[in-house]
Amino acid sequence: MRVAVALTPRAVHRPSTGAAVAIDVLRATSTLAVALANGATHVWPVATPAEAMEEKRRRPQALLCGEREGRRIEGFDLGNSPFEYPPGVVRGRELIFASTNGSLAMLAAAGARRRLIGAFVNAAATLAALEREREVLLVCAGKLGRFSLEDAAFAGWLCAALEARGATIEGEAARLARTLAPASADEIRALVQGASHARYLRRMGAEFTRDVEFCSALDSIDQAFEI
Ligand code: MLT
Repeated sequence: MRVAVALTPRAVHRPSTGAAVAIDVLRATSTLAVALANGATHVWPVATPAEAMEEKRRRPQALLCGEREGRRIEGFDLGNSPFEYPPGVVRGRELIFASTNGSLAMLAAAGARRRLIGAFVNAAATLAALEREREVLLVCAGKLGRFSLEDAAFAGWLCAALEARGATIEGEAARLARTLAPASADEIRALVQGASHARYLRRMGAEFTRDVEFCSALDSIDQAFEI
């Protein structure tokens, strides 16, 4: 197995012939793991609110979901907090999802034979879902086109675990991510909580602080998700 990492969506130059994992620890792929675990049936990532409205015209039954500057987009059904996606709201529903960075990572991961979403909340399950792949591309969302520590660290965590299972880590980005791999649940919590986007979210208030806490926990969800 060969494993490569894109530290931002723009760094993806060709689709993976195998699996691609979109990673946005704070908060999009953590939130979508909750939504899919709670019965959402499909995720349609889009880059902008305007594209989301267009998609809504094609899929009137779908829920409009997304954020700008961390807050629910005006007129949308749901924002980007994992606590907004309980079974009673999302079971059996399709989600049109427009977040600032996570959506771009999911779109950049398109074209792969299998496209997954992953974060620390479903780390072990995502790892298990990759074990038979020959090529894996880990696509970090970053923030506004720039590097984000928490996404690279989760990519690094996957690189380390796959390398321990015999995979070959390819390219400087993957080798850098590999050096950031946290070794324990406590290290994960400290790293995610210390990240700049975590500080940004905490400044927005108690609900966002709760989201950061949730997104920094390891394996609270035991399922992997293809979108
Ligand atoms: C994103 O997709 O940009 C992030 O998930 C933003 C956020 O934390 O809401």
